[in-house]
Amino acid sequence: MRPVKSLKIGGYEVRYPVIQGGMGARISAGSLAGHVAKCGGIGLIAAAGIGMNSPFFTGKNYFEADSSALKAELEKAYQIAPEGVIGVNVMVALSDYEDLVKASIEAGAKLIVCGAGLPLTLPGLTRDAPEVALVPIVSSVRAAQLIAKKWDKTYNRLPDAVIVEDPDSAGGHLGEKLENIGNGDYDQYATVRGVKEFFLSEYDLHIPVIAAGGIWDRKDLMHALAAGADAVQMASRFVATVECDAAENFKQAYIDCKKEDIGLIMSPAGLPGRAIIKNKRQLFLYDEINRTVCATACLKKCTYKESRGRFCIVKALDRAQRGDVETGIVFCGTNAYKAERIVTVQEIFAELFAQEAVVEEAA
Ligand SMILES: Cc1cc2nc3c(=O)[nH]c(=O)nc-3n(C[C@H](O)[C@H](O)[C@H](O)COP(=O)(O)O)c2cc1C
Repeated sequence: MRPVKSLKIGGYEVRYPVIQGGMGARISAGSLAGHVAKCGGIGLIAAAGIGMNSPFFTGKNYFEADSSALKAELEKAYQIAPEGVIGVNVMVALSDYEDLVKASIEAGAKLIVCGAGLPLTLPGLTRDAPEVALVPIVSSVRAAQLIAKKWDKTYNRLPDAVIVEDPDSAGGHLGEKLENIGNGDYDQYATVRGVKEFFLSEYDLHIPVIAAGGIWDRKDLMHALAAGADAVQMASRFVATVECDAAENFKQAYIDCKKEDIGLIMSPAGLPGRAIIKNKRQLFLYDEINRTVCATACLKKCTYKESRGRFCIVKALDRAQRGDVETGIVFCGTNAYKAERIVTVQEIFAELFAQEAVVEEAA
């Protein structure tokens, strides 16, 4: 059997070709990211809503708390894995996107991963830290082309890797129109190969192209690598772990959910999201009953902020993260129902890569 290769992104290398996907509102904070990095993958702290359930948030200083909490979580992750490769996922749609990129750099993030919008100005924001690897998340070859052309022309820089996220299986906000999701038209690995070919033909450049969405076990991982991906990004798999930063109820919601409980919901951000939707009614009623006001303006564009449309996303994510899965929103990928019990991050790596250890010993 061919052993899996290590993953190199920019100036950084990890033993195993796995990135733990960023999960907003403190589902992936310092603990999860640190432990994934310690096990030989890349750990990502999600910047979105990181201040909410943090000691820095007074109820009135959302943006300040976000930046302070992000720095504190990076510090925590590096305490767990001092030599680890730890990065930050920052959604372009966030109002404090630029500040969070800055805070990530100040606190020593080795990678910045950006989705939920095209990070067209990212190299400008990171100009003084050229060692930080820049990794956009896309769902189409066209989006990768737009980003690369803009970066090349304006900043003379290209992405260090690209993550291709499959809207048909990934969790959280999705980069595709609602009507195009799940209709069978999307081909994840054709997109992975298309992105790879584009960088090769246009720039004579080999960059890692990473598949995200629907990867749960070793079989999925090996399939992704065989289909042309250099690595995988996995998020849902890391939720039902001891080290995940969410409340126990959030983890238990994965263990308890059935395949048919997972579905799509329109987020106030104007993007579809994948979540456990059996509590959809309670989720929508919550803000009406509690007369939730938009106190943070966390998103650049938001129907709740503008007209009380849909629901307040940051509060719904925060409630779920703290364990209120009855009225909060539990984002998850299509595979979340496969979680059977709480395991450790180390156990997941052992399951994914036990064969590699055997190969190493034999070599
Ligand atoms: C609970 C949860 C929260 C997420 N939050 C974010 C986020 O803040 N930013 C982002 O770019 N992607 C986010 N995602 C997407 C993941 O990083 C990842 O790309 C995707 O879920 C991969 O699919 P998988 O869950 O099947 O492994 C989230 C996913 C989940 C399950």
